[in-house]
Amino acid sequence: MPLTGRIALVTGAARGIGRAAALRLARDGADVAVCDLQPDVEDTATRIRELGRRSAAAVVDVADPVQVGDGIRQLSEVLGDIDILVSNAAIVSNIAPLTKMSHERWQRELDINLTGAFNVVQAVIGAMIKRNWGRIIVMSSGAAHGGLHHQVAYAASKAGLIGMAQTITLEHARHGITCNAILPGLIETEKVQRMPAEIRDATAAITPARRLGSMDEVAHLIAFLATEQAGFINGAEIDIDGGMRLNTGSLGSRKEVRTQRGLDER
Ligand SMILES: NC(=O)c1ccc[n+]([C@@H]2O[C@H](COP(=O)([O-])OP(=O)(O)OC[C@H]3O[C@@H](n4cnc5c(N)ncnc54)[C@H](O)[C@@H]3O)[C@@H](O)[C@H]2O)c1
Repeated sequence: MPLTGRIALVTGAARGIGRAAALRLARDGADVAVCDLQPDVEDTATRIRELGRRSAAAVVDVADPVQVGDGIRQLSEVLGDIDILVSNAAIVSNIAPLTKMSHERWQRELDINLTGAFNVVQAVIGAMIKRNWGRIIVMSSGAAHGGLHHQVAYAASKAGLIGMAQTITLEHARHGITCNAILPGLIETEKVQRMPAEIRDATAAITPARRLGSMDEVAHLIAFLATEQAGFINGAEIDIDGGMRLNTGSLGSRKEVRTQRGLDER
């Protein structure tokens, strides 16, 4: 198996893409540490153990560097130093026009989505440098390019992650570390399945593939980027969106989506 002997850490692994990625890394042979704000992240660790791999879970707010440091220290004591980091935890709760977005809500989204990734990278990268090997995979979004209506903080945080990831490559490629950003389109997570059908349908309609992506497809890409064979892919922005980016600019600027969401009337 391609990841046998590797230790991975996935943040935001209680559900969605993070959980799918953690299970996929385990199926590919890695031992996998998982963390989340939600205590039911322990269920993901249980599933990983059922797959025959070692696992440990920690409840951590990635926005808090002290919790991140403590959590990763505990997880590493159980499993060993982290070889593969999937920085995935994020929120999208802050949906409002810029004029109505409070400073506090802007700050919280940046703290989790962008500073949270920085906190986690900083906590694991020292051990990667020492071993001259590491894989860092950062979950950005198609929203990083062209923005997203009423999600200024989310779009800014996801664009910021690309700058962070590329700087990590510049500084640490010589240490055998790769850092790549994944930019998904709309993916069929539990949360997306609960979105209004009009939004899902409108997104599928502007996607050349005419469908949403699956969590397994994203997990597969993550698992590949974690392998030895992916060692020369570095500082890349990798779209996984059924070709949506080719279809003129950002999701939020598309007439179909604006109309469906009633954004033009406001
Ligand atoms: N689902 C999509 O369509 C989509 C599209 C583009 C990008 N993404 C990105 O992919 C990643 C995963 O998305 P998802 O849809 O699976 O999200 P999700 O909301 O289903 O899961 C996110 C997980 O992160 C956890 N989390 C939130 N705040 C946290 C914090 N402060 N500390 C620790 N954990 C925290 C949540 O509890 C949750 O388990 C995110 O970075 C998201 O921005 C998703």
